[in-house]
Amino acid sequence: MKKITIAIDGFSSTGKSTLAKQLAKKLEYVYVDTGAMYRAVTLFAMKSGFVEAVEVDEDALVKSLGDIELNFIFNSDLGYAEMYLNGENVEKEIRTMPVSKNVSQVSVIAAVREKLVAMQQAMGVSKGLVMDGRDIGTVVFPDAELKIFMTASPEKRAVRRYKELLDRGENVVYADILENVEKRDYIDSNRAISPLKRAEDAIEFDNSDLGLADQFQRIYEHSLRVIEKH
Ligand code: DC
Repeated sequence: MKKITIAIDGFSSTGKSTLAKQLAKKLEYVYVDTGAMYRAVTLFAMKSGFVEAVEVDEDALVKSLGDIELNFIFNSDLGYAEMYLNGENVEKEIRTMPVSKNVSQVSVIAAVREKLVAMQQAMGVSKGLVMDGRDIGTVVFPDAELKIFMTASPEKRAVRRYKELLDRGENVVYADILENVEKRDYIDSNRAISPLKRAEDAIEFDNSDLGLADQFQRIYEHSLRVIEKH
């Protein structure tokens, strides 16, 4: 069967990556979490001392972009690829609150987006790929055969994220998470370059009141119909 490109965009903590990961596994496609790439660049900026309070030193980061090597390395125990920054597995570190607090500032920088978009497009040349992010259906793969735009209420998303971080042993406060979710929604949707918006030909999928199994079933069946058409 012919392989297609599946672009999944949407607000933070809508469960995009969980769904995209499951879908890729079932279809035997490659899964790419582009949020992990923006998070890894943010971690690099933080480790390099380019972030003070939530002020990012844009010039310093842009000058150092050539020093950032990003790789996804497949972990067969987990069944998905993990993010490596300059040879180090940063999969856990990039999901922590300090990185979440700074990542929107880093993702508005044009040179950062150019570098990451070029890498993402290169990963997709042979199709058979599920990629999730904010601008996949609009900028990275405007010709993707299937585009899904995921939404859910900020409160539902904050609860999900809160549970996830507690499970990981992080010491977090719900109100902080909700504030971070709303702040990121605002910055992601209002930035000048590649703002988060639904591509005209994307199907909107509100999963506020849907369990994981139902979501997966609906999206998987829809994907099969789209794949059959191509
Ligand atoms: O999907 P996520 O929450 O892990 O993404 C982290 C941040 O990265 C998010 O606040 C916005 C940014 N991002 C982006 O600007 N473009 C993408 N394609 C993916 C993520």
